[in-house]
Amino acid sequence: MLEHTIGFGGGKIILLGEHTVVHGTPAIAAGLGRGVTSIARSAPEDLLHIEPWGRSLRPSDDDPLARAFSKVLDDVGKRPPLRVDVRVDLPPGAGLGCSAAIGVSLLDAVDKALGIGRSRADIGARALDWERFFHGAPSGVDNTVSALGGLIRFQRSATVRSIPLTRPLHVVVAHSGERSSTKEMVARVSTRLSERPDWATKTLDEVCALVLDAELALRGGDWPRLGWALDRKQEILQSFGLSTPRLESLCELARSTGAHGAKVTGAGGGGCIIALAEDGHHAARIADALDADAFVEEIPHAA
Ligand code: PMV
Repeated sequence: MLEHTIGFGGGKIILLGEHTVVHGTPAIAAGLGRGVTSIARSAPEDLLHIEPWGRSLRPSDDDPLARAFSKVLDDVGKRPPLRVDVRVDLPPGAGLGCSAAIGVSLLDAVDKALGIGRSRADIGARALDWERFFHGAPSGVDNTVSALGGLIRFQRSATVRSIPLTRPLHVVVAHSGERSSTKEMVARVSTRLSERPDWATKTLDEVCALVLDAELALRGGDWPRLGWALDRKQEILQSFGLSTPRLESLCELARSTGAHGAKVTGAGGGGCIIALAEDGHHAARIADALDADAFVEEIPHAA
């Protein structure tokens, strides 16, 4: 066994298709440069330590994180005791895929520690079990993009497709400061959809069309067209009861600074918005206007 091994899981933003992806429509997501790093090493006993939260957990503890950790260890079979130190560089409950990134980084570090060679796609797929400890019925988009990175189109039961860009995409990410629970938000949307089946079918069809159109806009570098899809999706997220006054005002501020479009990203009910800029300079101006903690993510074009 190596002295220590390092695993990584990226954060993510969902450009289009959150929530409806749980119900079978496609979504477009991008991996973030920042995420979660895990360090695994042999130790006297199994231990999970989440550094920024000051939490130390044993697999037997009564906690979803401990249970998820225990499952990861059980799945790899016979092994020496392992300590995993996790460094989280993402806000939790903010729509940036924090729990999936922890799962992917931890699985990656443990695999490497035990000399198990797995592809990133495999690690991503296995992290779906991890996600189930926190979100009940996750679609799989977060764990997939956390492992693979890049810009992808994801749909349940379909092959993941990478979306090549002809020019870099600059997205501003700003946190509302409000925290929310993905599990509760997913349940809220499911209830609304089941209460109004006709509206649900119409809405899911519309999101499907929006995602396909957005993919064409991405491939063609047509940011105004993409921005229109983002704004429309924000109206749909509002109708699901996922926006808040603070999220709305951040989206409005971004648009008044010239963003092509702005919307909540991820579970909503709090968390982050994303705003689409024309280029890097424009993105920096939008980020300045939004919040001191807002950051710009550049999604590079295909080489
Ligand atoms: O807010 P996050 O990072 O947990 O993202 C959840 C994405 C959803 O579409 C709302 C749920 C899912 O499983 O796809």
